[in-house]
Amino acid sequence: MTISKGYVDSRYLQIAGEFLNQLKQRTYTCIRIETGNKVLDVGCGPGIDTIELSQLVGATGEVYGVDYDKAMVTEAEQRARKAGVSAWVKYKQSDAASLPFETGYFDSCRSERLFQHLPNPAEALDEMARVTKENGWVVVHRDQPAPGCREGGEVLHKSTHQEDIHVVGR
Ligand SMILES: C[S@@+](CC[C@H](N)C(=O)[O-])C[C@H]1O[C@@H](n2cnc3c(N)ncnc32)[C@H](O)[C@@H]1O
Repeated sequence: MTISKGYVDSRYLQIAGEFLNQLKQRTYTCIRIETGNKVLDVGCGPGIDTIELSQLVGATGEVYGVDYDKAMVTEAEQRARKAGVSAWVKYKQSDAASLPFETGYFDSCRSERLFQHLPNPAEALDEMARVTKENGWVVVHRDQPAPGCREGGEVLHKSTHQEDIHVVGR
């Protein structure tokens, strides 16, 4: 069991993820994934979603997971190897506020249950929009309304060609 600096352990995330499966599926739908897409998961934890995303983009696509906790990244890499998808699923240890990717690299970007922990969630949202191509999609799920976002609710999505953040609910 991995205990992260954020006091979240991977076993908890696995169990919670099973309860939250409907929500997870909704975020995948919101980012309009197609075969061959490049997709980023920010605050990926032990890689529960990146493995799912790898099936949606297929081996011609690319999935990156980012987490600031090295132990989470290590566990995510192990899971990807075990699932046989490590050729197209990669991880980086990084802060959401400073993503180590080129501008416009991804077709879409998601984050789940990270934003309520961030001191400046708007900064992370801007970074996610930056690394997503024009007319791509950014979807954020948070447990509570985040400061800096215009509306309360559970799921935010943002088209990179729009300035507004829209709450789409659970
Ligand atoms: C509640 S867990 C959610 C994990 C995963 N998204 C899921 O739904 O299973 C939040 C994750 O965000 C990571 N995290 C917290 N602050 C972060 C930051 N500033 N940048 C990147 N990752 C961060 C934690 O290490 C943890 O793995």
